Amino acid sequence: MSIVAPSLLAANFINLEAECKMLNESEADWFHLDVMDGRFVPNISFGPMIIEFIRKSTTKVCDVHLMILEPEKYAEAFKKAGADILSVHIEACPHLHRNIQQIKSLGMQAGVAINPHTPISSLKDVIADIDLVCMMSVNPGFGGQSFIPHTLTRIKELRILIKETGSKAKIEIDGGVTVENAKSIMDAGADVLVAGNTVFKSANPKETISLLKKF
Ligand code: DX5
Ligand code: ZN
Repeated sequence: MSIVAPSLLAANFINLEAECKMLNESEADWFHLDVMDGRFVPNISFGPMIIEFIRKSTTKVCDVHLMILEPEKYAEAFKKAGADILSVHIEACPHLHRNIQQIKSLGMQAGVAINPHTPISSLKDVIADIDLVCMMSVNPGFGGQSFIPHTLTRIKELRILIKETGSKAKIEIDGGVTVENAKSIMDAGADVLVAGNTVFKSANPKETISLLKKF
């Protein structure tokens, strides 16, 4: 059974409280929160202030995906805002090992996000230290993009690396996840499905979450 992590990037922000309530009443496991800085990715979303409000509206896991440069400057702020899991991008971190240690020493679970073009092998020397790999199945920056099919091969490769190293890291797939492709993603070896538009733009978001949960 998958872990389902709706991405609030696709939520209606003028009705954020109602959106949180809907997720709380649903079978969603995690809240996936996308932070964009307009530098690492060509879009700006929200920061710790909004996450603090969301934190007060749920007891579910807050899974924060940082798409920002210099994440070390903000890790503490995201901890204070209520993040349970904090993921940084491998492409944004020349001192990735240090970033991971910082996140863990702040008492959060550490995740590493990886873009579609970055070799899976570049995770080899940190995989045993982390709790989550956020594998991008689109180029980060925007919701509503199409799933890149080659991701399925990458999931299988990462699953082998995790097994070989005895890592406890979960594989999270982020971008273009739909009810139609969720089975192939889970069959390839994923643990967590992020879904933005598929959940929030559906006629019945709670039911869509239940459907995703079954894979
Ligand atoms: C993209 C974000 C995703 C995004 C997914 O940069 O990291 O989490 O919100 O949105 P959908 O599911 O609509 O592709
Ligand atoms: Zn994300």
